[in-house]
Amino acid sequence: MDNPITVASAKEIPLGQSKLFDVCGKIIALFHTPEGWFAIDDRCSHRGGPLSEGKLERGCVTCPWHQAQFDLVSGHCLSNPKLSSLKTYQVILSGEMVQIRW
Ligand code: FES
Repeated sequence: MDNPITVASAKEIPLGQSKLFDVCGKIIALFHTPEGWFAIDDRCSHRGGPLSEGKLERGCVTCPWHQAQFDLVSGHCLSNPKLSSLKTYQVILSGEMVQIRW
């Protein structure tokens, strides 16, 4: 699907916060960070931990369960290259609305 989908109002998600949303059964975490907005599959590729509850730091999110770190741009696991990368999504700001392409 190429058309952007509106998932939130930018005002809903303060800097440093995240929001979970469901697109056709796919659970995606949206992050508002000092580096910008990012969207990534919510389930950690280790054992399914909720990345939306993870700690944000310099463009990475740390899984709250066993501390795997994922790059929010590439989806690669930086702390353990053996773990599968996660899908990331382009985030677009359209006025006050936050959209993703997926
Ligand atoms: S479930 Fe994420 S590091 Fe284990």
